[in-house]
Amino acid sequence: MKLIIRDNSNDVTEWAAKYVIKRIKEYNPGPDNYFVLGLPTGGTPLGMYKNLVRAYKNGKISFKYVKTFNMDEYVGIAEEHPESYHRYMFDNFFKHIDIDPNNVHILNGNATDLKKECEEYERKITESGGIELFIGGIGPDGHIAFNEPGSSLVSRTRVKTLAQDTILANARFFDGNVDAVPKQALTVGVGTVMDAREVFILITGASKAYALYKALEEGVSHMWTVSAFQQHGNTMIICDEDATLELRVRTVKYFKDMWSVHEKLNELVSEQAMRKLVL
Ligand code: GLP
Repeated sequence: MKLIIRDNSNDVTEWAAKYVIKRIKEYNPGPDNYFVLGLPTGGTPLGMYKNLVRAYKNGKISFKYVKTFNMDEYVGIAEEHPESYHRYMFDNFFKHIDIDPNNVHILNGNATDLKKECEEYERKITESGGIELFIGGIGPDGHIAFNEPGSSLVSRTRVKTLAQDTILANARFFDGNVDAVPKQALTVGVGTVMDAREVFILITGASKAYALYKALEEGVSHMWTVSAFQQHGNTMIICDEDATLELRVRTVKYFKDMWSVHEKLNELVSEQAMRKLVL
């Protein structure tokens, strides 16, 4: 697992956008070779979407040959609801770029048969050739997508009841009204994300510091589902300084040193290459 530490959340989201652009360009997608991208919602990736939209508007990137699969969606709220993940994705990203809406996939939390909806989602991912780059965020309890503590680490897309901590954390999006937060969601499983060829997780803020510590310094545990990615061959976590507050100084130094060596060896992510890419 790689860990990149940036000064603050703005640097994290800017770097993340640049990385996504570089990966898509390097892949060189076309009509017979779509780039398949897994996408998160939440406050953390907002800056990444803003930067991606800016880059698109400045002619730096096209999403014409990109297919997307979102991580999750609440059950039982209308797609037009201001807090639905459909609305979030269209308002913050899709409506500003050149992606074909047919290539956008978001779980339908209002499907009459939710189980079938989840099975179909897995089928569509497989049909698209699997996910090239799955971008994720985490909750303060270390959940990825909506894979709450105790979720199976080989889980697939399914209906999930939300943990009380998640309901409380997400109440901020529902005018602080805990009762208005949906209690269930559809979510890709840990196993679904594990199948992606690359996983890229954004973690910012002190409220996620303990989860980052669990993900990095302790063992794999279903109680901190993000820790499963210790067993993924190609996972990169990008975080800000605040998110490192629970890590040992030794761990932070280790990853910083490691990254500076990696940057020197890897043209794609070198500081120089990243600086050159103006969004
Ligand atoms: C929700 C989503 C997760 C997301 C998390 C963190 O629980 N299901 O996919 O990563 O929120 O959101 P934020 O970035 O707002 O802290």
